[in-house]
Amino acid sequence: MSYKHISVMPAEVLECLNCRPGKIYVDCTLGGSGHAGAIAEKIIPDGLLIGIDQDKNAIKNAENVLKPYEQNIRLFHDNFINLPEIL
Ligand SMILES: C[S@@+](CC[C@H](N)C(=O)[O-])C[C@H]1O[C@@H](n2cnc3c(N)ncnc32)[C@H](O)[C@@H]1O
Repeated sequence: MSYKHISVMPAEVLECLNCRPGKIYVDCTLGGSGHAGAIAEKIIPDGLLIGIDQDKNAIKNAENVLKPYEQNIRLFHDNFINLPEIL
């Protein structure tokens, strides 16, 4: 299943998150991985992005979309209500 989604305000999200190499970020709703990909690009080489989604298709999509950053990504097929355990 190809995942189609247009991320809302990606530039503003990056600005507000102040994404920088070496830092840790959490995306609790990966969806199409638009925001996640933009964050990953900013945090390499030594940052970490933890990505969560309750939809298995969103996780499968993230594995593909975020492959270039796989060293800096941890994906969780889960509900973000479990964030404390995931972290
Ligand atoms: C609008 S999409 C996110 C789009 C994403 N930011 C992007 O740039 O493509 C919302 C996603 O949140 C996920 N979601 C909604 N509630 C959730 C929850 N409680 N735990 C985990 N994922 C959730 C849905 O499965 C869906 O994939």
